[in-house]
Amino acid sequence: MFPHVESFYDPSTGTVSHVVYAGYGSPCAVIDPVLDFDAASGLTSTHSIEHLIGFMEERCLEVQWILETHAHADHLSGASELKRRVGGKIGIGHRIVDIRSMFSATFDLAGEHGFDHLFAPDEVFSIGALRAQVLATPGHTPADVAFMIEDSLFVGDTLFMPDVGTARCDFPGGNARLLYASIRRLLTLPKSMRVFVCHDYPPRGREARFCSTVGEQRKFNIHVRDGISESDFVEMRTTRDSTLKMPALLFPAMQVNLRGGRLPAPDEKGRRQFRTPIDDVRFAQKLL
Ligand SMILES: [Fe+2]
Repeated sequence: MFPHVESFYDPSTGTVSHVVYAGYGSPCAVIDPVLDFDAASGLTSTHSIEHLIGFMEERCLEVQWILETHAHADHLSGASELKRRVGGKIGIGHRIVDIRSMFSATFDLAGEHGFDHLFAPDEVFSIGALRAQVLATPGHTPADVAFMIEDSLFVGDTLFMPDVGTARCDFPGGNARLLYASIRRLLTLPKSMRVFVCHDYPPRGREARFCSTVGEQRKFNIHVRDGISESDFVEMRTTRDSTLKMPALLFPAMQVNLRGGRLPAPDEKGRRQFRTPIDDVRFAQKLL
């Protein structure tokens, strides 16, 4: 069976959300929805979510799953708001609890993790008539997973489009060797399998694109095509990562995305606030 996939691009964070479904009127999964957030004003908005909901209403799709490939560091998850509006179960890889532990003290993450289901590696589940399987893909973070849904692979932050390459590995628990192994495992899948990315940062002159194939990745990916060794990849990745700044939305993103997409609870005066650790050397050393 070939699922329908509709992709939605958020140019402000380079994030791609996907709606996956068997046909008109069927159950669907939404992968990596975005809650819009303007850090300068502190205002959230649901522009991206409205697009998703409008599309699903047009096709009479019923949200069965809201899937997160990992705890994103560059945008706020729209999972909780989407669930509030249209239902569905929020699922993520089971090692998200390890990521929560890393950030728990700094951001006061005690309490419920907010996800409805934590997927085990290789777990199989269904989206209506579609068969889906979870593939653990540690490397970018320890908790990353890809979702293989029939002939379509949703790779999260592992591979990007072939001319962009691969995801960074310098976040807490990140590991370039593990990412190489995770990607090479994905690239053993059939060459015709479609590969949907979670981000695109298009080079100047090309439009944002979100879909390639395993065969194209094996032939053209600038970081990890066939013939590039683990040691060459690790050296490239480590050198490149040492030049990258932390994502601008890292702190608010962790405080939402490690709570299943929920904003911090309001204080006694009804104010919701994010924390920003200042000169917290022990915390910063984990990040840099
Ligand atoms: Fe990421």
